Amino acid sequence: MRIDIRLLPFISDPTSLSHRAVVVIDILRATSVIVHAISQGAIEVIPVVSVDEAFQEAKTFPQGSILLGGERGSRKIEGFDLGNSPREYIAERVKGKRLILTTTNGTKAFHLVSSGREVMAGSFFNIGAIVRRCLDQDHDLLIFPSGDGGRFSLEDTVCGGMMIDQIVKTGKLPIVLTDAALSAQILYQRFAKNIIEAFHLSYHGRDLMNKGFGDDLVYCAQIDITDIVPKFQNGVIRID
Ligand code: MLT
Repeated sequence: MRIDIRLLPFISDPTSLSHRAVVVIDILRATSVIVHAISQGAIEVIPVVSVDEAFQEAKTFPQGSILLGGERGSRKIEGFDLGNSPREYIAERVKGKRLILTTTNGTKAFHLVSSGREVMAGSFFNIGAIVRRCLDQDHDLLIFPSGDGGRFSLEDTVCGGMMIDQIVKTGKLPIVLTDAALSAQILYQRFAKNIIEAFHLSYHGRDLMNKGFGDDLVYCAQIDITDIVPKFQNGVIRID
């Protein structure tokens, strides 16, 4: 298995993904929200790029069956049901609902890599399940951090590095790492004993703390609280 990670959230040649599994990561907070919502019983998440698209998409479903969620500038969008804190996405709110989600970086990322052989939503919440799925399937793997406005994202790369570290350490398969993947693994090892430290140092983590979302950093650092592997297919994220 060859493992690569994008250090910047761009894909120059989408056809290059057709033989690779892709894991999208936006720890703070889009993929943490997606994994959490589905683990709490949401039937699916529809990731859309714009707020207008979210409202349009909502009109195509019966009233009461959907929730609008997401953020702009990390804050809840006017007219939406929920913001972008995973702590809001609990069974009492989301069970049996379809969620239409739009966020600054994370929901866009799924559309950038939609040509992947299999596109999964990764987070610390489901990292062990993602690692097991990648090992079982043994496809070449691209880890795709959503970044921050096109820039490198420390927290996403640390999570990607942890996936790489766990895959390599099982020793189950011959693994080839690109230099980017090796760098992410080394970066993860720097924060392995204290993931929150990476959040506190990151630009987006500091911005969330300044805006009063510090509790989300602690929440999003929880490891292996669910075994689900949500997949993005035909515009929708759900479990099989
Ligand atoms: C994003 O997609 O950029 C994030 O999830 C933003 C946030 O939650 O603040």
